[in-house]
Amino acid sequence: MRLIFLGPPGAGKGTQAQILEQRFGAKQVSTGDILRENRKQGTELGQLAESYMNSGALVPDEVIIKMIEAELAKLSSGFIMDGFPRTVAQAEAFDALLDEHGIALDAVVLFNADRETLVTRLTARWTNPRTGRTYNSVTNPPRTAGMDDEDGGPLVQRDDDKPETVAKRLDVYDTQTAPLVDYYRRGGKLVEIDALAPVADVTAQLETKVGARAAR
Ligand code: AP5
Ligand code: MG
Repeated sequence: MRLIFLGPPGAGKGTQAQILEQRFGAKQVSTGDILRENRKQGTELGQLAESYMNSGALVPDEVIIKMIEAELAKLSSGFIMDGFPRTVAQAEAFDALLDEHGIALDAVVLFNADRETLVTRLTARWTNPRTGRTYNSVTNPPRTAGMDDEDGGPLVQRDDDKPETVAKRLDVYDTQTAPLVDYYRRGGKLVEIDALAPVADVTAQLETKVGARAAR
């Protein structure tokens, strides 16, 4: 299974990538999670990325492309790109990398959702910083508030989920990432899903629409 998850902040890319990773063994590659881990460890990459992330802007393309090159070298089986590519320059660089490695994508999944729902989801999101698993205090709460169902550890809210930063991230998506919809539609890889449906329904859509392609 080799997929790209494309869609605005809060559409559920991370939630579904984690479910498919467990179910199909394809590795979730979340550029946001990698950047947050680097920020936590205080690496050079993390320090460079911090101001962009805090303001809701994109980290420069060349930094992200180098990061993905390193990730791709570690992947032996399938992958789910979660939050990458996010600009046309990143998509072109990724196409070149896949060609170089002789890898073909199964599909690019577009998560469709409206802005109002996205704002509500993000401002109620809680994340396990150790595993990246997400919950939502309104739509998908953990069994015990503030604690992860699996490892029992504390859940945290992301710094960039403040209302003003969420608005900026959604604007950045519209101007810089949305052009990728046409880019991948032209390549015949685009599969659209209704990301407003409950989590289990979105997973079912993915299994039907993408599972068949990946099995070919
Ligand atoms: P990143 O971490 O990728 O954030 P994002 O794209 O803004 O997306 P989110 O993680 O906010 O949303 P999601 O779609 O994963 O939703 P989730 O599943 O959590 O990027 C962060 C920053 O890093 C960027 O702003 C940028 O600075 C930098 N960056 C990262 N990649 C980059 C790149 N390629 N280039 C440049 N810069 C980059 O779900 C959201 C909430 O909704 C959760 O609470 C969840 O429980 C709930 N939920 C999920 N699905 C449903 C459902 N079906 N029904 C009800 N609730 C649901
Ligand atoms: Mg995410």
